[in-house]
This record gives sequence, C-alpha cells and structure tokens, in this order.
Amino acid sequence: MSIKNQIITDRLPRHVAIIMDGNGRWAKKQGKLRMFGHQHGVAAVRDTVEGAAELGIEYLTLYAFSTENWNRPAIEINALMELLVNTISKETKTLMDNNIRLNAIGDIESLPGRCNKNLKAAIDKTAGNSRMTLTLALSYSSRWEITRAIKNIAQDVKDGKLNATEINDSLVEKYLTTAGIPDPELLIRTSGEYRVSNFLLWQIAYSEFYFTNKLWPDFRREDLFESIVSYQNRDRRFGGVNESTNAKHA
Ligand code: IPE
Ligand code: IPE
Ligand code: MG
Repeated sequence: MSIKNQIITDRLPRHVAIIMDGNGRWAKKQGKLRMFGHQHGVAAVRDTVEGAAELGIEYLTLYAFSTENWNRPAIEINALMELLVNTISKETKTLMDNNIRLNAIGDIESLPGRCNKNLKAAIDKTAGNSRMTLTLALSYSSRWEITRAIKNIAQDVKDGKLNATEINDSLVEKYLTTAGIPDPELLIRTSGEYRVSNFLLWQIAYSEFYFTNKLWPDFRREDLFESIVSYQNRDRRFGGVNESTNAKHA
C-alpha cells in the first residue's frame, strides 16, 4: 500500500507546521555554497505545498526565516531575500491555479522593500482563495510575537479598550500573529535537529512533533504523508486519560 493510501482522510491534521532546516548542510555535502541549498529548498517547498493541498490540509505554515537568521552573514541574507522575491513572484500563478491563499507572519516590515512589496502583492492577489492557507513565517520568532502581543494588550488596557480581568487564553490568541488560525496538530522538523528554534511556542502547546533526518532540499510530499501517518498513530491525551489506552495498560 502506498504511503498516501495509509492516511485516514477523515482524521487529517487541520494545520501542519514545518521547520525547514538543513539547506546549508545539503549544499556542503556536495561541496557547494550554502545558497545552492536554499535554491534547491524551493523545489521541496513546491512539492510539499502541492502535496498538502492535494491531501486536503487546511493550513500549512513554513518557517522560512527567523529573527535570529538576521545574524547570518550579509551575503547569505541578501541572497535569501532575493530568492524569496523571485520565488514569490514566480509562484503566485501556481497559488492561484491551486486556489491557495498566501499569508505571512513575522516582522514583515523589516524585510527589504522589494521583498515586502512582492509579498504583500501576492497576499492581496490570493486573498480570495479558499482551498488551503499557506503561511510563511518570515523574520518571525515566537518571543518577538509574544512580546508584541503583550505590548498591544498592555496598550489596550491603558487605553481603556480592554479590562485586565478579561485576559485569558483565547484573548491572548487574538493578539498573536496567528489569530484565526487553529493551533498546528503536527510540527515537523527536518535535518535531524531536535529543537524548536523559537517557532510558534504558544501554538505548539499540544502539537505532535515529527523529526526526520532528511535535509530540507530532499523533503517531498511522500515525507509529509509519512509524518501524517505517524501523527495518526499517536495517542493524543491533552492531559486527560484515554480509556482505550488505559485498558491496554491496566
Ligand atoms: C534552513 O536551512 C533555511 C533557513 C534557516 C533560512 P539552514 O540554512 O539553516 O541550513 P543548515 O541548518 O545550516 O544546514
Ligand atoms: C530554524 O532553523 C529557522 C528556520 C528554519 C527558518 P535554524 O537553522 O535557523 O535554527 P538553529 O540555528 O539550528 O536552531
Ligand atoms: Mg539550520
């Protein structure tokens, strides 16, 4: 049975988030510059996006550039931003053809002008699409997001728009950049690293984690399917007890 056929289609995660890691190592293995890996990472993005949409995933969030990635050498940052501009422009038609809405989270205003402009244009153009929401995390980090939320909540309390007693889980969610998007049920990280690197810390409270040694440029839709099969075999208890599992171990 193909890996895709092993997926139980009425128990899909609604939201899958991916930490796309390992581009630099992929390039190095072939004696090439890091940028070569980023360029080949685009094919992995394309195939994963198509695979997710084909399966019926509603939200796919990709960690593309972190706040901390600004600490990389300027030459890599500039080349990455250039790649982003070109890729967004080139892929907008594919997004339209596949009815995919583009979204971005992160400090988008800190991106170079042309990058920011192209990104906003693609977001506007695809705003009416409804099959899947593809969110790119760009200049994103969870601590940046949570700090920003706290500042905005404090300001609203100060301005009398909000009462401090009204602050609860669901209010905090509304101040996050992911407001309106369900928490990811599944978080994938490639390249054999077992860490979260400042990604969606609030939202992954109860996410299932899937780690693979594959380096991002080698990741394809079959790897996504495999992660979903693994997810569907997990026992999600959310702090409670699952009667069937309990019976087995009683
Ligand atoms: C992930 O690949 C892409 C970004 C973080 C932009 P890396 O560039 O982190 O590649 P490695 O982890 O050094 O191999
Ligand atoms: C995480 O990868 C960020 C992205 C994938 C965009 P990094 O390569 O930046 O993370 P660390 O440095 O290994 O934690
Ligand atoms: Mg890395």
